[in-house]
Amino acid sequence: MMVYGDMEFTISKLKEDKKSYSRFIKYNKHLEKIKLTGEIAAGIAHEIRNPMTTVRGLLQILLKEKECFSLEKNLGIMIKELDRANDIITESLLLASTKATGLKMKNLNDIIRILSPHIKSNASKSKNNVVIELGVIPDQLLNEEDMKKLIINLSQNGLEAMSSGGTLTIKTYTEDTNIILSVQDQGTGIKPDILEKLGTPFFSTKDHSGLGLAICYSIAARHNAILQIETGPTGTTVFFRMVRPQ
Ligand SMILES: Nc1ncnc2c1ncn2[C@@H]1O[C@H](COP(=O)(O)OP(=O)(O)OP(=O)(O)O)[C@@H](O)[C@H]1O
Ligand SMILES: [Mg+2]
Repeated sequence: MMVYGDMEFTISKLKEDKKSYSRFIKYNKHLEKIKLTGEIAAGIAHEIRNPMTTVRGLLQILLKEKECFSLEKNLGIMIKELDRANDIITESLLLASTKATGLKMKNLNDIIRILSPHIKSNASKSKNNVVIELGVIPDQLLNEEDMKKLIINLSQNGLEAMSSGGTLTIKTYTEDTNIILSVQDQGTGIKPDILEKLGTPFFSTKDHSGLGLAICYSIAARHNAILQIETGPTGTTVFFRMVRPQ
């Protein structure tokens, strides 16, 4: 049953989940599905990438040909689309890794501070506000790139869930033996049928690639953490809960 790291240990340590073994089973099944998607992607990535690289190379040659000047715009679009497809493969591959690598003792607050201008600039594009409340939390073994991806994905989902004038609140704090990062939006919440599917790779109601939350779940698992979602008509909060170092 164990899928990522020492999840059983982690979840048994997480207070809310102590009483709910069936929730643990469900959570782990979900992680298994995410991991399988990554494994399938890993299996076919090479086969798909090679022809894509060839086509991209040929398109670039055409782009330099005088006779193709009139096609410049369309060739550019073709290259961009190939790059997008390549990015989706790269992101899917992230789902396969079950062990965290590149872990360093870091403070999550410092990572949030680095990202803060980027998140605020994204928020201002949709005329939303960002409030960041960083509590005193201990350093933790973190993969900085993974944590950046997680924070950006959760923030982006929160911003995309709100119409203009909303507030995205990012907090860190400790609770018993947990270190918590929460990302709260003031959207209209997530309907139960969609809630069921959250984190399923390629599930999106926005015509996006739908990998954001699946990546967040796998990053959480690699850090022996879990994601919890609370949602209602006044908004959604996603909690990233890690066990505090003893
Ligand atoms: N904070 C949120 N509020 C409302 N719905 C949400 C929220 N977060 C996620 N969702 C729903 O879950 C779906 C899946 O989210 P996920 O981040 O995995 O993919 P995406 O945002 O659609 O695409 P991508 O992240 O690849 O750009 C979203 O399409 C949306 O319907
Ligand atoms: Mg998303």
